[in-house]
Amino acid sequence: MSRKKKPNGDTLLDELRRRAKVFESEVEGETVPQDLSERTPTGIKGFDELIQGGLIKGETYIISGVSGAGKSIFSLEYLYRGASQYGEPGLYVTFEETMQSLLRNGRNFGWNLGDLFKKKKLMLVDFTLVTVGDKALSLNPEAFNLDGLYVTLETAVRELGIKRVVLDPISVLFLQYPNTGVIRRELNIISSMLRKNNCTSIFVTETGNEPNHITRFGVEEYLANGVIVLYWESENDKRSRYIEVFKMRGTAHYMGRRRLSITNDGISVIY
Ligand SMILES: Nc1ncnc2c1ncn2[C@@H]1O[C@H](COP(=O)(O)OP(=O)(O)OP(=O)(O)O)[C@@H](O)[C@H]1O
Ligand SMILES: [Mg+2]
Repeated sequence: MSRKKKPNGDTLLDELRRRAKVFESEVEGETVPQDLSERTPTGIKGFDELIQGGLIKGETYIISGVSGAGKSIFSLEYLYRGASQYGEPGLYVTFEETMQSLLRNGRNFGWNLGDLFKKKKLMLVDFTLVTVGDKALSLNPEAFNLDGLYVTLETAVRELGIKRVVLDPISVLFLQYPNTGVIRRELNIISSMLRKNNCTSIFVTETGNEPNHITRFGVEEYLANGVIVLYWESENDKRSRYIEVFKMRGTAHYMGRRRLSITNDGISVIY
């Protein structure tokens, strides 16, 4: 059998040996990148109890749900609690909802986001859509490309010591760039960079219309260490909110749905 040479002259076998070595040393505890028992509490009332105290530090999570399910409020509260209660600076990258609207939300919940901005504990980057009339057309091409996103995130994480990142919603990227493979690869690269910097991240996506899809494109969940689904369901002419931890690697999580509420105090899981 011929041995394929990689461009740098190594054979595939050399590459495999190298990878096995990395795995061995991780098993021996030499280069374990993080302590898996170390968790990042979201600070969202009633939620951390469902996931053994919090998200695993440095990992990426997907939050999905239909429009109005509470994804952005959940994500904003995750950053707000992180910055105000756990000393973890956060970065919110918004692709759809304007910064003004997010700030209005924060004000309604009594969160002093302005103070956190001033203290550089919270950063908001607005990559929202270009709109013509009431139609959103595309991401702002002046402000946005995927390399630009990577650089923005890396700079913020390294220079401002960001520990929590939200991208809301990544489904916009899938719509803007029809090659799903490219987006997955790019988001994986971003996710690895965030992991290396011990940043715990939430990528927001929408629930698809396909019956078994928990995400819009049916691929986003594979990017992530965990998937949280928010439901906003009509029951007897009334709508109710639920939350479900659909997948959470390395975690003995609660299985099933819990009621969720959004009040002027923010989000809470109801027991
Ligand atoms: N102060 C508040 N008190 C109670 N409920 C609120 C409050 N503010 C917003 N909500 C509820 O939260 C909903 C919006 O939540 P959010 O913006 O997080 O949804 P989303 O899942 O991000 O939706 P989209 O996919 O459209 O961005 C509102 O439609 C409303 O029902
Ligand atoms: Mg939203």
